[in-house]
Amino acid sequence: MTDQAKLMLGGKTAELEVRSGSVGPDVMDISSLYKRTGAFTYDPGFSSTASCESKITYIDGDEGILMHRGYPIEQLAERGDFLETCYLLLYGELPTAREKDDFVHRVTHHTMVHEQMSRFYSGFRRDAHPMAVMVGSVGALSAFYHDSTDIADPHQRMVASIRMIAKTPTLGAMAYKYHIGQPFVYPRNELSYAENFLHMCFAVPCEPYKINPVLARAMDRIFILHADHEQNASTSTVRLAGSSGANPFACIAAGIACLWGPAHGGANEAALNMLGEIGHKDRIPEFIARAKDKNDPFRLMGFGHRVYKNYDPRAKIMQQTCHEVLEELGIKDDPLLEVAMELEHIALNDDYFVEKKLYPNVDFYSGITLKALGFPTTMFTVLFAVARTVGWIAQWKEMIEDPQQRIGRPRQLYTGATHRDYVPIDQRG
Ligand code: CMC
Repeated sequence: MTDQAKLMLGGKTAELEVRSGSVGPDVMDISSLYKRTGAFTYDPGFSSTASCESKITYIDGDEGILMHRGYPIEQLAERGDFLETCYLLLYGELPTAREKDDFVHRVTHHTMVHEQMSRFYSGFRRDAHPMAVMVGSVGALSAFYHDSTDIADPHQRMVASIRMIAKTPTLGAMAYKYHIGQPFVYPRNELSYAENFLHMCFAVPCEPYKINPVLARAMDRIFILHADHEQNASTSTVRLAGSSGANPFACIAAGIACLWGPAHGGANEAALNMLGEIGHKDRIPEFIARAKDKNDPFRLMGFGHRVYKNYDPRAKIMQQTCHEVLEELGIKDDPLLEVAMELEHIALNDDYFVEKKLYPNVDFYSGITLKALGFPTTMFTVLFAVARTVGWIAQWKEMIEDPQQRIGRPRQLYTGATHRDYVPIDQRG
């Protein structure tokens, strides 16, 4: 591969440096393009644009590979746990036993939220979507934890990171409890991260709540699978918000707002709703036909991915976890699962989906699993947000610590009106 690319435009030639990563496609550094040629690049949706340099997560979408700091997601999900993955994403290495104990201790002892937060919740309508509550309550953290909002201080950055990883499950569980009209359940320090989350969601004061280890393991695995996914829409949102120097709590709230959309984190909720709407496997052909119809905006939710043009590696693990959970709970003939399996089979053998490389993504199976765990669909994206918080915060920290970091400021191709003079209102026709 050459280390320079030549671009000729309007009689000018710009020589652009070509940079190689440790693995993956090279990039052309176009940062001086405008100065040299007077032209911008145009790439809506950033299909061909690397927005930053990163050492955190690598995806090979054609091969269906996902690695965090070099470790394949399959190994982390099979052999590790969520807090170990958090440590890896934040610090770059797997922890030693001592480092892990210390990290778990720090996260565990930051799980409570300021007591006034609970009064903040009562300002929301009971029927508010829990994601709406999450956007508000995570954003509000900056009003409660001023002492960790100085982004220039590495110690404060780490305190804010730990706080965010520790407190989003508490806020997520509170959003759920508020939604269903039950009292908030405080975190319990003797429980693991996933166990504590299940406890805060499903325990009630009037009887003991027994943790099922199979379900806790499934919860932990769901968190691992959603922990980070390089420069996706919400992560790019967090980086862009953070590039102005905004505090980390505000940046994560921006990420949560972006994640909520049905093309991103909202897809697991949309996928389950779609399976319910299909209802029976006999109706699958009708929905497949709709998905293929150019005049119908309907899409098969849980299928397709901007980066993966192969089976999403997370979907394979999620499928296995889904079966483990259903077996543990004795759910044998789940109609939604039956529709899901048949839909997957049909889509994987249909020319339209094969040609466009539309495979099931992680959200296809996570919805069914979360439903079996007892979560209502409105909570699905909240769970995604809880898991992704570590990815957002690791990416935000990397950006703040990058000496090349500048405020993000994309340019545009302007196609609106050119100069014209103001016309007084009585003279407008
Ligand atoms: N059902 C039917 N057709 C589809 C689908 C689908 N789910 N996804 C893409 N296509 C078609 C699309 O119509 C287009 O066809 P054509 O080239 O004839 O115009 C072609 O495939 C390429 O689609 P695109 O919209 O240009 O692809 P994209 O990379 O911009 O979109 C996506 C990726 C994930 C937004 C899209 O596949 C989609 O909307 N999927 C359903 C929502 C979903 O499951 N999202 C979860 C993503 S994974 C979790 C996450 O990372 O947040």
